[in-house]
Amino acid sequence: AFVTSKQMLLDAQAGGYAVGAFNVENMEMVKAVIAAAEELQAPVMLQTTPSTVKYGTLATFAALVFAEAKKAKVPVALHLDHGSSFELAVQAIKEGYTSIMIDGSAVSFEENIELTKRVVAVASPNDIPVEAELGKVGGKEDDLEAEADINTDPLQAKEFVERTGINSLAIAIGTAHGFYAGTPVLDKERLSEIKKVVSVPLVLHGASGLSDEDVRDCVNRGICKVNFATELRAAYTDGIKHLFTDKPDTIDPKDLGKVGMENVKKLVMDRMIVCGCNSKI
Ligand code: 13P
Ligand code: ZN
Ligand code: NA
Repeated sequence: AFVTSKQMLLDAQAGGYAVGAFNVENMEMVKAVIAAAEELQAPVMLQTTPSTVKYGTLATFAALVFAEAKKAKVPVALHLDHGSSFELAVQAIKEGYTSIMIDGSAVSFEENIELTKRVVAVASPNDIPVEAELGKVGGKEDDLEAEADINTDPLQAKEFVERTGINSLAIAIGTAHGFYAGTPVLDKERLSEIKKVVSVPLVLHGASGLSDEDVRDCVNRGICKVNFATELRAAYTDGIKHLFTDKPDTIDPKDLGKVGMENVKKLVMDRMIVCGCNSKI
């Protein structure tokens, strides 16, 4: 079923688990993520960044996900990840996205609040939930280059949520987009502090490369949505690389898609179990 992310995140918050949110780049990844969710009876979010929608268009991804989601028994939401402008957020809602992130982490606290409030004002009458980010997740996601990582301040987070009326908050506690060069150092105490004062579901970005233990610990401390992107891209491409090693004469794109899908489905199932969202439907 094609739904918004609102109820699934509230259910995750009440149930003490996290919904997995998986970045997709093509039809095969859409099918693989939904197949994983169906097999595990898990609610799921599929998401696309601004560079992905530039590659495929919002309408194309909305049509793909809608067609696949309506065949599924589990709830499926389509989320704009790291929405980079008010205009793109509005466009995504118009094209059928059922969940929106507006990423104002690059501007000042007050400007972030203003931008986020404008998006909430459009999304909320349409019943579309909004995620925003406070602090700065490290690494390079899409075209947005984070400068220094700035961890989220708990009291600012509380004020931000109250003043914007958002449905979920992405926080920075030391995770980064992409794989990690060394061992990631997470400020889990800060997560627990934020959880104490913020009532909406909390979102963890940059989960590729995190250990199962770290993900589980963050979920136990109050994370309700975990974002995975780079790991899916790597799994998809690895499948294709191996196919070309074994069968260099392969020419049918369907053969490439099949091995890519298998790898992505396996990875997504593993990550869903770590998030604890399996067997929830
Ligand atoms: P990773 O690429 O590290 O999994 O980060 C995903 C993410 O935060 C997408 O918004
Ligand atoms: Zn992210
Ligand atoms: Na990461």
